Amino acid sequence: MFGFRYRLPNDFFQGAVDVHCHLLPGVDDGFSTTEKSLHALKKLEERGIQKMILTPHFMKDYPDNNRENITAKFAVFKAEVAKVSKIELRLGAEYMLDACFMNHFKQGFLALDAKDQVLCETSYMMYEPGITEMLYDVMCEGIQPVIAHPERYEYAVKDNYLRWRDKRYKFQLNLLSLAGAYGKPAMAKAHYLLKEGMYDYVGSDMHGLGNFEHFLPEIRLSSKNIERLEQLIENNKKLFD
Ligand SMILES: [Fe+2]
Repeated sequence: MFGFRYRLPNDFFQGAVDVHCHLLPGVDDGFSTTEKSLHALKKLEERGIQKMILTPHFMKDYPDNNRENITAKFAVFKAEVAKVSKIELRLGAEYMLDACFMNHFKQGFLALDAKDQVLCETSYMMYEPGITEMLYDVMCEGIQPVIAHPERYEYAVKDNYLRWRDKRYKFQLNLLSLAGAYGKPAMAKAHYLLKEGMYDYVGSDMHGLGNFEHFLPEIRLSSKNIERLEQLIENNKKLFD
């Protein structure tokens, strides 16, 4: 028997912090121009979002995305944003667990918080050999991995999630997974992981405004899962403290 499911309340994002988005323009497969990013920021500000952590892709597909280059581009963008919006921005990154990962570690990760929490993703298709060892090595140096959108990995089943939690990785939900934006299997896993209390944070993973506005109204959750999602929003805020 299914219980009632509800849309997110209108004030859901009031005071919220987004911890995963691709709004830094022209550096990855996210927003392509400053104008589009500024337009999206204004729309998000109208919804009540007050702070955002920008997380451009760091992976071998984007060899120019290193700490130095991206930090310089962020400074330019942040100055543009300050002219039109009160949203506070911080620079993070989304690190693919690939052959470049340890080089980025040596340069110094751009963390989600002021210290050590680092957003990581794997290939969607497979958990490649060596990933566990890389994560172990960086954790030994005090890094806390936050696994981006665990619900979206096609290879991942319940056992993977339990193992990752045993290894003390944190999990970040993609909000639109709950609406089926990445397909039904990812949607089912997102609802399962939320219900099981396995997530720590929630992010938009926004690459463009259209997808966000299309799928957001499609989210339907039990009142208990809305409460769980609100707790993730609270956890997000602590990253920015
Ligand atoms: Fe992302």
